[in-house]
Amino acid sequence: MVQEYTTAQVKEHNSKGSVWILIHNDVYDVTPFLNEHPGGEEVLLEQAGKEATETFEDVGHSSDAREMMEKFKIGTLVAAERKADLPKKSDADWKEPSDASSSDSSLKSWILPVALGLIATAVYRLYFMS
Ligand code: HEM
Repeated sequence: MVQEYTTAQVKEHNSKGSVWILIHNDVYDVTPFLNEHPGGEEVLLEQAGKEATETFEDVGHSSDAREMMEKFKIGTLVAAERKADLPKKSDADWKEPSDASSSDSSLKSWILPVALGLIATAVYRLYFMS
């Protein structure tokens, strides 16, 4: 079973000796990672004991970073305190531009202007060139 924690418990781990962080309703013990975090220990210490989903997502962490964080996961937030989760970059509607499957959304983005252009041309021809 996954260990569950309350926000109050997470809050207690807010100093260099023990740093827990909440991201997407999961609890991470990043104490051993402080020295290794490419973004520096300061930012992690700043978020110690807190809910850091938004700051974590704002940085635009890579999929490598997301894999890495699994190692530090120690549990989840108790159901009663969970928040509606923020979308992860890896979720379907948050595809990164480099993602192969995002090509259909870029396709959609030019179909509309092209279609409007064709309709405008047809209307113009119909009314002004006959
Ligand atoms: C277990 C949690 C975390 C892991 C495993 C992690 C991992 C990483 C990794 C691997 C990078 C290098 C760039 C990349 O691959 O995306 C990075 C950069 C960074 N991280 Fe984290 N991170 C974590 C939590 C956080 C949190 C909570 C913050 C909050 C502010 C943060 C702020 C940053 C910043 C500012 C950078 C530098 C970005 C840059 O220089 O472009 N990280 N992190």
